[in-house]
Amino acid sequence: MKNVGIFYGSSTGNTEAAAKKLQQEFGPDKAQIFDVANAKASDMDNFPNLIFGSSTWGMGDLEEEFEEFVSEIQQENLEGKKVAIFGCGDQEAYADSFVDAMGLIYEVLRNKGCDIVGKISTEGYEFDESKAVVNGQFIGLPLDEDNQSDLTDERIKSWADQLKKEFI
Ligand SMILES: Cc1cc2nc3c(=O)[nH]c(=O)nc-3n(C[C@H](O)[C@H](O)[C@H](O)COP(=O)(O)O)c2cc1C
Repeated sequence: MKNVGIFYGSSTGNTEAAAKKLQQEFGPDKAQIFDVANAKASDMDNFPNLIFGSSTWGMGDLEEEFEEFVSEIQQENLEGKKVAIFGCGDQEAYADSFVDAMGLIYEVLRNKGCDIVGKISTEGYEFDESKAVVNGQFIGLPLDEDNQSDLTDERIKSWADQLKKEFI
């Protein structure tokens, strides 16, 4: 039975590629993937575990399609679910708003009664400010295809292993 729903918003394909790799880590029999451009609130119904992914655009904004999907998340009852957040960003060119979209998703989820899992250390990243850092930790998994693409596969694998323990 599929128990992980992965919902991603991606403008140039980086977050989409990462979402597909994450799906492979859980196995296609366990995880289903949704492009938020075509997804709706009820698509989240059947999954006890959800993963949301958005790249960051503008100066710390959500990816355009993900921004529209926020109203679907707000409609959905997430009580009791385990939820994890990831996103692609660029820590060199956007050192003051690195993966801010992850922090914006965190804010949307904070009062929804779900349990946010998948927090990781900021070690190995170099940036000045990020809304995705809360109490000294990233609230999910940042990926940087612009500067550290060689680390992406390993980061996804290690995060998926962590989620397998934290998910229901
Ligand atoms: C115009 C523009 C604005 C961006 N703004 C940010 C930003 O504020 N913070 C950040 O971390 N990355 C920023 N990025 C980097 C993208 O998030 C990064 O390239 C990401 O991998 C794109 O993912 P996607 O293909 O899934 O949309 C920006 C990139 C561009 C071209």
